[in-house]
Amino acid sequence: MKVLGIETSCDECSAAVVEDGEKIISNVIATQIPFHAPWNGVVPEIASRKHTEWIYAITKEALDKANMKVEEIDAVAVTNRPGLLGSLLVGLSFAKAFAWSRNIPFIAVDHMLAHLYAPRLIPSAKCEYPFLGLLVSGGHTIICRADNFDNITVLGTTIDDAVGEAFDKVAKFYNFGYPGGAVIDKMAQNGDSSFFNFPMPSLHKGDHRYDVSYSGLKNAVINQLDTFKKKSGAHTNEDIAASFQKTAVQILLRALLNAAEDTGITTIVAGGGVAANSYLRSCLAEQKNLRCIFPPQDLCGDNAAMIAGIGYHYLARGERSPLNITASARVTGFKKKYP
Ligand code: KG4
Ligand code: ZN
Repeated sequence: MKVLGIETSCDECSAAVVEDGEKIISNVIATQIPFHAPWNGVVPEIASRKHTEWIYAITKEALDKANMKVEEIDAVAVTNRPGLLGSLLVGLSFAKAFAWSRNIPFIAVDHMLAHLYAPRLIPSAKCEYPFLGLLVSGGHTIICRADNFDNITVLGTTIDDAVGEAFDKVAKFYNFGYPGGAVIDKMAQNGDSSFFNFPMPSLHKGDHRYDVSYSGLKNAVINQLDTFKKKSGAHTNEDIAASFQKTAVQILLRALLNAAEDTGITTIVAGGGVAANSYLRSCLAEQKNLRCIFPPQDLCGDNAAMIAGIGYHYLARGERSPLNITASARVTGFKKKYP
């Protein structure tokens, strides 16, 4: 079954064709970063307008790259949650119209579950269930257990800011540039990560063993630099970036390693924009008892291949979404603890 995937939940406009949930035939991703950069963050109105302008051309490009005609598509899968409502509605409406006009099956899927499906699209990764998922983006920080593509249990979340949000807010405050996470990652390579010793949240016991918190770290970096200074002399912006990044990653690692220890699961799959972080990757690579799978950039960030990939499995077991289904800002596909 050749599934057309459509993804417009945030600031990436993407369309893909995936066969039988595993073979990527094409995966076209257009980023809107230059259009949001002047505002140091995603502007929802700009995002939905750009999706409206681009969605047809991006889908056409995905079909062209797959060397396929519209008639050869067997079904359509689209993200309808979570995300920016205006952005989601563009992809959702387009996908509905495509499916309706061709009279082919249509399924709306959860973007966060799809991130956990992404490594299944890399044949060499041999990513078997169960694994622990680390979903880290500008809007979410989730540590979960995946027993199947649609059987995901949340073990821990952030109790305040998402990790990517903390990167973005620190970068915005110090005018480091946009997008904050990628800029801080690069600056940190020339900084001294022990110049400041920023505080870890006290969240490592009982019910909070797998939870994280970033508001304390963010406040320390923005408002209390002098309090946490460990070295004499003047600091550079790179020192702030490196010290912040070190603590931000250690907060994630502590919760993740607790989850690995308690569940005995040794495969970790990372997804979302922050999974691109080089320090996070090198720290996890040092954990010799764990196997950490980081999808390549085009499958790690937002992309339509993961939507078509997971969509296939719902479609294959006969599930369909009604054409009057709407978009939602909330995650709905997880079991248990998700608020
Ligand atoms: O998954 P994503 O592309 O979009 C959503 O938030 O849904 O993630 C974007 C987030 C932003 O907060 C960005 O600053 C962060 O990922 N990010 C990074 C890096 N690249 C992107 N954070 C840390 N290190 C990076 N290299
Ligand atoms: Zn995402």
